[in-house]
Amino acid sequence: MNQAIARALMRLPVAALMLTSGIVCAQGQASADPSRYLAANCANCHGTNGISTAEPGIALAGMKADEFIAKMQAFKGGQRSATLMHQIAKGYSDEQIKAMAAYFSKQVRK
Ligand code: HEC
Repeated sequence: MNQAIARALMRLPVAALMLTSGIVCAQGQASADPSRYLAANCANCHGTNGISTAEPGIALAGMKADEFIAKMQAFKGGQRSATLMHQIAKGYSDEQIKAMAAYFSKQVRK
């Protein structure tokens, strides 16, 4: 056998391993915290990961989960009037709100 081909064949399993481990890793990250995809919907106004740089006071990062849930439920139920959030909050189930509460409470406010 040609030596170059033999060398290429020997490298093949290594390349295949690197490729599959990359895929496994990417899946692992995605399933690690799916709530970040929910949180991404809020980034336009509240900053990436809820870290608001534009408007102080509207940061979601580091908000206590209970506080977050209470605020979202108040928007959703109409007890708290709002310009936007009463409509946005209605788009999320109680489970999704809980998942986002857990996610944002873990983010560090800067
Ligand atoms: C288009 C801009 C916009 C988007 C997108 C948005 N928000 Fe808001 N958010 C606001 C505004 C504006 C307020 C102030 C209340 C109001 O007038 O609606 C607010 C207020 C809040 C508050 C209350 C903050 C406090 O401390 O009183 C929470 C909690 C909140 N938003 C959560 C979210 C979540 C969760 C999402 C994503 C699912 C989201 N927001 C997406 C604009 C936005």
